[in-house]
Amino acid sequence: MSAATPAPRTFLIGAARERPCTLVVCRGCCCGDPRKHPGTDHVWQLERLRSGAAEHGFSVRTTDCLGPCDQANVIVVQPSAAGRRAGGRPTWVGFAMDDDCTEEVLEWAAAGGPGLAEPPVTLELQFVDPPRDARVRSRR
Ligand code: FES
Repeated sequence: MSAATPAPRTFLIGAARERPCTLVVCRGCCCGDPRKHPGTDHVWQLERLRSGAAEHGFSVRTTDCLGPCDQANVIVVQPSAAGRRAGGRPTWVGFAMDDDCTEEVLEWAAAGGPGLAEPPVTLELQFVDPPRDARVRSRR
């Protein structure tokens, strides 16, 4: 960007100013499917995240396939409005299959999420790159 071009500004208005950290939990064709990924209690995982959200004030929603099915289960940790203002960006977590990962995602969101709290170090090992054309679509 040249010196003559002003930096783009982002303003959040209305409810977006107060948006909490949001976990976007993929429940598409592969994520959450016990036939493709047996040995993981996918229903428990979603219930656990939702109960954590109710307790700590973050939000959880599900979405159709986000793209990287080979990294299922995928959870995107969206920053809160305050987290975004502090520089937080959506963070993609892959291979979110075990209880420890579920608890770490919950822990991080409860602490504020991207931009407001450091993620657990072991969770960082599961960060994956989003597909180039990533779009999060809400299913519920
Ligand atoms: S079903 Fe989750 S990435 Fe495809």
